[in-house]
Amino acid sequence: MRLSKKATCNSHGQDSSYFLGWEEYEKNPYDQSTNPNGIIQMGLAENQLSFDLLESWLANNPDAASFKRDGDSIFKELALFQDYHGLPSFKNAMAKFMSEIRGNKVGFDPNNLVLTAGATSANETLVFCLANPGEAFLIPTPYYPGFDRDLKWRTGVEIVPIQCTSSNGFRITEPALEEAYNLAQKRNLKVKGVLVTNPSNPLGLTLTRHELNLLISFIDSKNIHLISDEIYSGTVFDSPDFVSVMELLKTANTDLLNRVHIVYSLSKDMGLPGFRIGSIYSNDPAVVSAATKMSSFGLVSSQTQYLLSAMLSDDKFAKNYILENRRRLKNRHEKMVSGLQTAGISCLDSNGGLFCWVDMRHLLRSNTFDSEMELWKKIVYNVGLNISPGSSCHCVEPGWFRVCFANMSEETLQLAIQRIRSFVNEISLSTTNCDGNNNNVFSRNRSKSSRRKGITKWVFRLSFHDRECER
Ligand SMILES: Cc1ncc(COP(=O)(O)O)c(C=O)c1O
Repeated sequence: MRLSKKATCNSHGQDSSYFLGWEEYEKNPYDQSTNPNGIIQMGLAENQLSFDLLESWLANNPDAASFKRDGDSIFKELALFQDYHGLPSFKNAMAKFMSEIRGNKVGFDPNNLVLTAGATSANETLVFCLANPGEAFLIPTPYYPGFDRDLKWRTGVEIVPIQCTSSNGFRITEPALEEAYNLAQKRNLKVKGVLVTNPSNPLGLTLTRHELNLLISFIDSKNIHLISDEIYSGTVFDSPDFVSVMELLKTANTDLLNRVHIVYSLSKDMGLPGFRIGSIYSNDPAVVSAATKMSSFGLVSSQTQYLLSAMLSDDKFAKNYILENRRRLKNRHEKMVSGLQTAGISCLDSNGGLFCWVDMRHLLRSNTFDSEMELWKKIVYNVGLNISPGSSCHCVEPGWFRVCFANMSEETLQLAIQRIRSFVNEISLSTTNCDGNNNNVFSRNRSKSSRRKGITKWVFRLSFHDRECER
């Protein structure tokens, strides 16, 4: 074998439909003028809604991006900087910004912050620090597909799912936590912790105080860690407000406090995934020290730190950005939800994130993951939208899809919605045309469940009917 086992093992997850959808998009990307029939990328949780705010700040503060301080060049200083503790001014600004996003209900000590090349590196570094190969982290499903790569691939650590379902809006429950713990034990895996994303990717939902308290008691009783990936904390656009787990630990003892770690990044809230700015926040000095040493493998470049320290420490800008970005996300989210509604498709009620968790169970031929794949392929190749199937997020129920709404213009979003609407309409119309009866599902006043069964039959008869009609 030419390459190492690590390089070739498939726990990277590259062959997941999540990444395959990106590949399909790359082959045929939509462009309004050059490729109007191409695939629209709705599988990428990118925030492009507030770039004008960043650009206007840059225009007003030219020194920050041109290696200057008070008009004098600091090129040499930045070019030579290589301290893996990071620029103090940037860590101060980052800690302050994290508090601002949490409504200043929690404070962050910059000394407990470790800088990393994005949340990807932060999550992997934490897992390297907290677990040995063959040990496990429990993660509520559905979860961000990148976690298979970030947490398992190079560390050799396993993920055991905490199974959440639509029966309670995918909320974390005590029995589900215990069940996952027992499952890990049955597989002879030592559980080192729980990892949650708050707000959740892909649900777009913040964790409730009840869920957070459950998690805290659980990790306390099992003497394990909690990693809270709060990369979407600044995207919460609707009530209830975001509650960071740190807010509930104000009276916790040191032992418990030292076992809770936060991951953050500017990739989503500021829309800067290309800059690779992430962080780990831990109250445990041993974790901070080990993670700082490991951060050598994925540092944030000094000019990026310099630029962002200037931007984030501009209080007026930071406060306004947070509010305005939330307002735009809320608006965009409403357009997505109401647009899908016109196609008879509903979303899980959500209050944050850059995506909706969309219920397409009624469009499945049968309640299976094979049918989910079949529908996904139709949506990618026939409808021209790359969305992420729930199975790529390890959802236990077929028929859910994550659909992103903040990485495109409003016109593109409207086109995407129009494509979905035509797809669903086509299904019902083709049935009407072919057999001469009015089988249009939307013209009938049926209950939702019987409507589901109706569409289910027609979606996958469509190609058969098309052929029959053509004869
Ligand atoms: C929950 C979650 N964690 C981590 C990441 C990785 O973010 P970054 O670009 O900062 O590495 C993502 C990106 O989509 C994410 O959704």
